[in-house]
This record gives sequence, structure tokens and C-alpha cells, in this order.
Amino acid sequence: MNHLDNNCIAIFGASGDLTRRKLIPALYHLYATKQLSASFSILGISRTEYSDTTYRTKIKESLIVSEKLEDSEQLNEFCSHIHYQPLDTADKANYAALKERLAALSEQYLTAGNIIYYLSTPPSLYGVIPECLAEHGLNQNDDGWKRLIVEKPFGYDKASAVALDEQLHRFFAEEQIYRIDHYLGKETVQNLLVFRFSNGLFEPLWNRNYIDHVEITSAESIGVEGRGGYYDGAGAMRDMFQNHLLQVLAMVAMEPPALINSNAIRNETVKVFQSLHPLDEKALEHDLVLGQYTASKVRGEPLLGYREETGVEAESSTETYVALKLSIDNWRWNGVPFYVRTGKRLPTRVTEVVIHFKKTPHPVFGQNTPDNKLVIRIQPDEGILMKFGLKKPGAGFESQEVSMDFRYDSLDGDEVLTAYERLLLDSIKGDPTLFARSDAVLACWDFVQPILDVAQSNPTRYGYACGTWGPKEADELLSRDGREWRFPCKNLTDTDYCEL
Ligand code: BG6
Repeated sequence: MNHLDNNCIAIFGASGDLTRRKLIPALYHLYATKQLSASFSILGISRTEYSDTTYRTKIKESLIVSEKLEDSEQLNEFCSHIHYQPLDTADKANYAALKERLAALSEQYLTAGNIIYYLSTPPSLYGVIPECLAEHGLNQNDDGWKRLIVEKPFGYDKASAVALDEQLHRFFAEEQIYRIDHYLGKETVQNLLVFRFSNGLFEPLWNRNYIDHVEITSAESIGVEGRGGYYDGAGAMRDMFQNHLLQVLAMVAMEPPALINSNAIRNETVKVFQSLHPLDEKALEHDLVLGQYTASKVRGEPLLGYREETGVEAESSTETYVALKLSIDNWRWNGVPFYVRTGKRLPTRVTEVVIHFKKTPHPVFGQNTPDNKLVIRIQPDEGILMKFGLKKPGAGFESQEVSMDFRYDSLDGDEVLTAYERLLLDSIKGDPTLFARSDAVLACWDFVQPILDVAQSNPTRYGYACGTWGPKEADELLSRDGREWRFPCKNLTDTDYCEL
């Protein structure tokens, strides 16, 4: 049994999709693998009128389906920790009942007033709920600790991000706020840090002297999946780039932290964001490609174009694809381009970082000598692939490309935690290392805001058919520098794209 403080997890937005799909399954797995505290309660909160029993039944049924579980004693035992409180979240007076309920649960489960408030609600409530909690003293740490988990988006643009930050800080201290970026919860994203700084082999090469360029790809084969209403107001820049991809980039580019703790690590990531070379209108004319998917047939299945999706404006100029060339103004990275792309309805689901090393200074085996590449696969088929040249067997001295690979699924030992499991566990432990800090979020917006401004003033979007790798203009982003994107397959070691 571990030694976590007993606690209550109060989930606002308890009848929502995120709670059902991610939070409750993550809590169940932590419970089933005995990683939660000895005693805990879960309090679902939302406007819908459920009783404890009806809410529990709903949760249990959804767990049985989504996690493919049997109706077992363990499942019933887990569900017995779940309670429900109907609440008009925007009405301060309503929180008196919530306060009483939390106090009663604290007594029943011996949780000493330790509470995590999880805001799994529309962002419009991010300001309101903390204020209402504070009104009833529910933000105070004196009677057990209080933590607030906030889901992205952390603002819609720079101004609203600053406003949100001020609102949150009015009622909760920064140490109490846990901003979730689920990419930081991914084992393979955390591994970027360990891989770089636990090996003497790679770090000496990890700089402008040896690296030619870096590619970061996050491709999804899904479209907007019924979230058209939300997505049309966000787009790929806000939905993926401003948060997830910049966090991955920071892990690739940061300096070694002096210590492994939340401040030391986050101090280094924030420096990367602050060193991103600001992109002005002129640079963006060349270095930014925004695309939107159009209808097509993929593997025999007809797929809608973005503008035909439910909840999307018929004339929408929201981007479903972004490719951007950026650079980092510091000693380590000066002159090394980073090419970053993300999109929906691409041929496959894959997130990876590719480090392209410089060519040998004198190509004794001819111009066709392969480049050295390190492919760090975040998902799926998680692992690392190193590509290098070797003598082609036979006469002469020709070089050919070969690879060495490591796959996560070859590791024995503990099952890897999902992103939400890891992040929920860390928030219970009070470890904010893998959560976005206020200064980092604002520094990301500083970089992204001019891009959004340009995107707004120039609504040109390049079309790409569903199931293709995005607009051809994105290829030109690299080809004009004499480079090309890697087109990855869902299997790490299949070097040629092979799924269509
Ligand atoms: C979410 C975005 O934050 O991340 C989604 O809102 C996207 O649009 C998802 O599909 C991707 O996450 P993952 O873990 O599947 O790569």
C-alpha cells in the first residue's frame, strides 16, 4: 500500500464526456492496481439531478463497456466510493450545500479535508467555479490541502489567457493549480527527458554543431468526431500546437535541469518558450501553412470534408492542419530549423520526433551515404529507431541505410500508466512537474498570438483530401530548404509509408 494522503476528488462536469471517457477509467485503473490512497471518495458534480445510486449505476455501466469489465466485487467496491452532488455551478449560494457534502464525505472517508477540484467543464466556468469555491472558503489549505485541476484550453488567445490566469490566481495560489496537458502525461514524452539526460552518448551531439534539423509530427486519422462546435472555434493551432506540440518541443530542446523537481524542470521548459524566435507577418508568409481537409474516399469509405461536419460553419476558415518552420534563439539551437506539423484526417495516427543529424563533412562513400536519424516515437508503437549507414555487403565500399530499434512493449515490468492515470496520481501526490505552469502557458501564447493574428487576417486555407499528408504547400516548406518530411507508418520500423 502506498502512503498517499487520503483525499476526495470532486469532479465538476461529472456528466460530461471527459469524465466518462478518461477520468473515471483512469481512477478505476489506479484503484484496481492499488495506487490510490487507502481511503478516498469521488464526488461527481454537475447540473443534472442524479442520486448517488443513479450516478453510480451510470458510471458502472459505462466502465463495463469502455473498459470491457465483468460485473465484479472489485468494480462494485470502486463504485461505492462514488457520490454525486447536483449543483448549479454558476450560483454561489448553491455551494453551501456542496460545502456540507464535502465535509460529510471528509468525515466518512477520513480524508482530513484534502480535496482535488477537477474542472472538467466548458472553459466559460473556469473563472466562476474557483470564485464560488472561494466564497465558501473551499479554496483554503488550512483544513486539508485544496488543489485545482484545469483542463485546456487555457485561454483562447493571449488576452483571455492572461485574464484566466488572473481570475484563477485571485482565488487559488499557483502551487494549488494543476493545468493538464495530457501530452506531458505520456510516458514517451517524459522519456524524452530521461533519454536525453541519462545518456552520455546523445547529449554531446544534441546541438547546432551536429543536428541539421528537427521534425515533429502529430498526425491523426480521425476528423473532428462530433466536436465540430468546439473545434471550429479553435482549430489545429489552438487545439494541438499551442499546447501539446510546444510541450513536446520543449522536451526536445530544453537544457538539462539542475535537479529533477518541478521547479527545475519547468524553469528549463519555460526558457525554451521564451527563446522561440518570434514570427512576424513576413516570416509567416513563407513559414506557415494552414490547411483544411476536403471530402474524399479513404480505404473505400467516403469521408466528409471539414466544412460538411456537424457544428462547422459552411464557409469556415478554421485550419485542421498546420505546418510551421520555427527556430530557437539560443546557443544550442541557433540556425537549426524545427519543422512542426499536425493535422486531422491524415493517413494514419502517429506522433514522433525525428532528429536529423548533419552529414559527414567529407562524403568518402559518395553522395548517397544515408543521413543519421533518430526517430523518437511518441505513439503508437512507442519506441526509438536509429538510422545509420553500413557497408553494403559485396564488392566495393558502398554505404546503405540500416536501423536499430527499441520498442516499449519489449520492456518487462510495470504496466505503463495512461496519461490521465499518471497526471491524476501526480496531482494526488502534490507533484506539479508534469503540469503546465502559468509562465509557460503565457510564453506559449506570446509565440502563438502573432500566428493567430496572421491566420485571421489572411483566411487562405489550402485544401487537402482526407487520407493524404496535408497540402502540397507543406512539402514545399521543406523542399525549398532541400529537405523532406518523413512519412511515417503506424509501425515504427516500417520505414516506407504503407497504409493506404
Ligand atoms: C486533444 C485535442 O487535446 O488531443 C484533440 O483536443 C486531439 O483534438 C487529442 O484529438 C489528441 O490526443 P492523443 O492523445 O490522441 O494524441
